[in-house]
Amino acid sequence: MSLIKCGTRELSSLKLVVFISMFAAATAGFTQTNLPVVQIQADKVTAQMPPTFYGLMTEEINYSYEGGLYGELIRNRAFKADAISAGIKPDVYDPAKNYPMKIAVTNAPKFWSTVGSAKISLDINTPLNDALNVSLKFEVSGASKNSPAGVANGGYWGIPVRPNTTYHASFFAKAKNFDGALTVSLVHPVDSNNVTVKSPLGTQVFPGETTVTAASAIVPKISGDWQKYEVSFTTGDIAPSKENRFVISATKPGTFFNHHGTVWLQQVSLFPPTYKDRPNGDRIDISQLLADAQPKFLRFPGGNYVEGDYFNERFDWKKMVGPLEQRPGHRSCWGYWSTDGFGLPEFLGWCQDLNMEPVLAVFAGYALRHDYVKAGPELEPYVQEALEEIEYVTGDASTKWGAQRIKDGYPTPFKLRYVEIGNEDFFDKSGSYDGRFAQFYDAIKAKYPQLQIIATTPVKSRVPDVIDEHYYKSEEEMESQSFMYDARDRAAKSKIFVGEWATRVGSPTPNMAAALGDAAWMCCLERNADIVLMHCYAPLFVNVSDLGAGRSMQWKSDLIGYDALNSYGSPSYYAQKIFSLYHGDEVLATDAQNLPTYEWKIPARRNNADQPATTREVKSLFYSATRDSATGKIIVKIVNRADAPQDVKIEINGVNSIADEGTATVLKAENRDATNSLGEPMKVVPATEKVSGLSASFTRTFPPCSITILELQAK
Ligand code: AHR
Repeated sequence: MSLIKCGTRELSSLKLVVFISMFAAATAGFTQTNLPVVQIQADKVTAQMPPTFYGLMTEEINYSYEGGLYGELIRNRAFKADAISAGIKPDVYDPAKNYPMKIAVTNAPKFWSTVGSAKISLDINTPLNDALNVSLKFEVSGASKNSPAGVANGGYWGIPVRPNTTYHASFFAKAKNFDGALTVSLVHPVDSNNVTVKSPLGTQVFPGETTVTAASAIVPKISGDWQKYEVSFTTGDIAPSKENRFVISATKPGTFFNHHGTVWLQQVSLFPPTYKDRPNGDRIDISQLLADAQPKFLRFPGGNYVEGDYFNERFDWKKMVGPLEQRPGHRSCWGYWSTDGFGLPEFLGWCQDLNMEPVLAVFAGYALRHDYVKAGPELEPYVQEALEEIEYVTGDASTKWGAQRIKDGYPTPFKLRYVEIGNEDFFDKSGSYDGRFAQFYDAIKAKYPQLQIIATTPVKSRVPDVIDEHYYKSEEEMESQSFMYDARDRAAKSKIFVGEWATRVGSPTPNMAAALGDAAWMCCLERNADIVLMHCYAPLFVNVSDLGAGRSMQWKSDLIGYDALNSYGSPSYYAQKIFSLYHGDEVLATDAQNLPTYEWKIPARRNNADQPATTREVKSLFYSATRDSATGKIIVKIVNRADAPQDVKIEINGVNSIADEGTATVLKAENRDATNSLGEPMKVVPATEKVSGLSASFTRTFPPCSITILELQAK
């Protein structure tokens, strides 16, 4: 437990008397000698705030895209998820091969179930194509009108169904000895929820369960060759729910002469309306939360996801462009299957929808299980892959990969300024990164001299334009290091990109204590925007549906949480949001005196129980100041992490005067454990109010556990 000490060390009884007398004097109108003072030097600009200072970092973790942002509602739509449990070790040195080479066909298809008398199995002998080389074999021999046979999918911990909403279903299918129709429907088990369905489609009774049909459509006939089928259907005036299933069913067993019909299915897909109506697009509520925070860049695709556990599990971008049915998918290093429907074009679409600049991380010849390719000819194919990836993002129609991007639906080349070589290459203990970085650096600079190259750890071979630093910390650690960049060497030639950071307190999403650590840290980043180029929190997303080990969450303390139906921002999200929304373009010089501190009892190291814990004095008040040069508005951020109110004197020098009225945007909570959740999504949210009594020198009381952003008008 932290002890707030308001600028004093331990109080002896004599000192306590003096302290109480001082406090009494202060309340009686005398100057309180230890009143914290934050000074802002408005005539001294220390940095231009980079316009892309606040951004997002993302990767496929915690069901971020599949079961998250990606609009797809069907889980295991391509039937390859079984490969994960099949225990197949991929061929680490053949990046050309699609992973997996084998599918355990004897396994029951994951996340699919039968309806009625249907039989289902995985079939590798009737593939759609080389990429989607396993299909779902659905045998319909027992089907009748009163007893339909079908296949059902429960989505990612449920399929969300909303009222008066149109859904778009599609699938590839081929039939043998089957000439009946298929019914495609969204059904709701009646017993699990008292949903009133006014749909004219009414109630369907499948053997063993009763369901109501929220919406359905008919596909009249299935061809004997693979073909794509698409239908749309609209729900009626129903209550939103997530306990739904998607069903494809038949009411006829086969043909007139042969009652044993078979239908093969592949890429069975269901989309609700998407953000900005983008085809193959994103979930609306989560996109809106992101858009509300106005992020300026997106670092993608990782994180560990860019590397993969093995070479052929890396972010192999060429297998993640083009038609969805040509994308083989791969196993994510976070332990689950990715169809790669959310591939390179979709990352770019996300950037376009939210007006973010892409910060592209390229695979750099190192996989997470420590396989690496040393610099030289063996690395060259990966360097070429990276150059072509840059061409995909930035090229025009005259380039091979620019033309492919245009074909994929993005006619305008994307503005790209930063390319990151790998991810966290300090884990590569072989020492190969120096050489690998140099080879990528030289090739990229030769072809794209305007690009800024980011290294993931310091190197000697070249001077990186930027170095990516990562910090995952406790609240106390984050606050302890919240003045560290003030002391950084200004002569260093590389700028800093804090490409991953988080105060990891709270699970699945961070609580108010975390938000306080985050805000202290962001004050540090803002004050040092002359050397810190940009930064982003990580991880961004978590599906909170199933929090047991190895289920919907692989990493705790994630900015935004959701289940199939709803989403919410954590207190850390709201801290990010207000920092991102409220800042100027100029960083002003600041100084402070009498900052209060608390005593942090540093826990004994985890692996060394004998090592005694030690203590450290940590500041409990943090600040930064920026100015909007167009309007003269000064934006002051004050973080009071203490559990008690804190008076702070704010002095603004170098201005004629400050208007009496301004605004305060405050994020606060009753205590540091307070948090948001699906049940209470808005428990800790910021509020903006008008404030008065402002001037070039004023004292204000900052609430306990609070983050305050003051907007002051300089005259
Ligand atoms: O954010 C989670 C992981 O933390 C990232 O994938 C990795 O870069 C870091 O170690």
